[in-house]
Amino acid sequence: MNLQTNYLGLELAHPIIPGAGPLTGEVPQARQLEDSGAPCLIMNSLFEEQIVREQRAAFAAIDEAEDSFAEALSYLPEPEDYRLGPDDYLSRVTHLKAAVDIPVIASVNGISPDGWREYPKLIAAAGADALEINLYHLASDPQMSAGEVEERLLASVRTAHDEVDIPVSVKLPPFFTSIPHFVSQLEAIGVQAVVLFNRFYQPDIDIEELRAEPTLRLSDASELNLRLRWLAILHGRTNLEMSLSGGVHSATDVIKGLMAGATTVQTVSGLLQHGPHHLRELLDGVREWLSEHEYSDLAQLRGCMSHQNAPDPEAIERGNYAMVLNSWTAG
Ligand SMILES: Cc1cc2nc3c(=O)[nH]c(=O)nc-3n(C[C@H](O)[C@H](O)[C@H](O)COP(=O)(O)O)c2cc1C
Repeated sequence: MNLQTNYLGLELAHPIIPGAGPLTGEVPQARQLEDSGAPCLIMNSLFEEQIVREQRAAFAAIDEAEDSFAEALSYLPEPEDYRLGPDDYLSRVTHLKAAVDIPVIASVNGISPDGWREYPKLIAAAGADALEINLYHLASDPQMSAGEVEERLLASVRTAHDEVDIPVSVKLPPFFTSIPHFVSQLEAIGVQAVVLFNRFYQPDIDIEELRAEPTLRLSDASELNLRLRWLAILHGRTNLEMSLSGGVHSATDVIKGLMAGATTVQTVSGLLQHGPHHLRELLDGVREWLSEHEYSDLAQLRGCMSHQNAPDPEAIERGNYAMVLNSWTAG
C-alpha cells in the first residue's frame, strides 16, 4: 500500500512523524526511531531565550561593570535549565544528520524578529532539511492589540523565512481570533506548512509554598478534537500543507487526522509513554485499517471528513453546539 507523503519538500515513506521533543534530539533515540520506521525527525527546539542569553552573556563579558545589565541577565534562566545552547544545537543538527539516513527537520522557538536573524541560516547551513518555527507567545500586555501581537509573530516568521532557503513550517498556538486569516498571512509570507497546534504548559500553584509550579503533563487523546476541527475547517481553504500535533496516541487518531485533512501527523507523548517502537505500532495499525477498508492510497482518505467534504459540515462548526448541550442527561 502506498503511504508516500510529500511534506516540506521531502518525500516521506508515510505521514507519521516523531514531533519535536526529548527523543528526537539525541542520536541513540533518533536511531531507534529510524529503526521503528520514522520517515523523518523533528528535533527539539532551539529556544530564543538561549540565543538571547548567549548573546547577552558575550556582551556582558565585554562590559562587566554594567550592573543594570547583570541584573537583567539574572531574569533569564540559567543555561543549564535548557537542554542545548545555540552552538550545541548546531553541532547536534550535524551529528543527527550524520547518524541517521532520514531527513532532519530542525525547530526554533521564539517570537521576536530580532531573535531570528542569524540562527535559522546557521541551522540550514548545519544541514537541516527543513525548519519548523514554533510560535510560543502568551499575550499578556494589555497595551498590545491582537493585530499587533499577530504582526509581531508574522514579522518573526518573515525574518526567519527570508534567512533560509530550506522549506519552513510554522507551529501555531490555537489562540487566534481568526486562525484561517492568520494562516492566510503565513501563506503570503511563503511558508510551506502549518503545524496545528503547540501545547501550552500551564503552571500550577503550590498553596503552601506560595509559588507557581511548572507542570509537564503528557497529552491524551482528548486533545485531538480541537486539532481535528481546525484541520477540517482549513482543508481546502489554504494551500499550505498541514501537520497535526497534539493528542495522537493510536492508529485511529492518525486516521482521523488524515481524514480531517492533515498532510502529516506528529506524535510525541505517545512515544514518550510507550517508547520509540510505538511508531511502528501506529504505522502497522494504519496499514491494517486501510487495507481492511480497501483504501489503496492516502489521497482517497485525506480530507474526506474536512468541512468541505464531510456529509454533515455543520457538525464541525457551531451548528451542533446547542444540540450537544441538550444531549446531556443526568446520571
Ligand atoms: C517533554 C516534551 C518536550 C517538548 N519539547 C518541544 C520542543 O522542544 N519544541 C516544540 O516545538 N515542541 C515541543 N514539545 C511539544 C510537542 O512537540 C507536541 O507539540 C506536543 O507534545 C503535543 O503533541 P503530543 O500530544 O503528541 O505530545 C514537547 C513536548 C514534550 C512532552
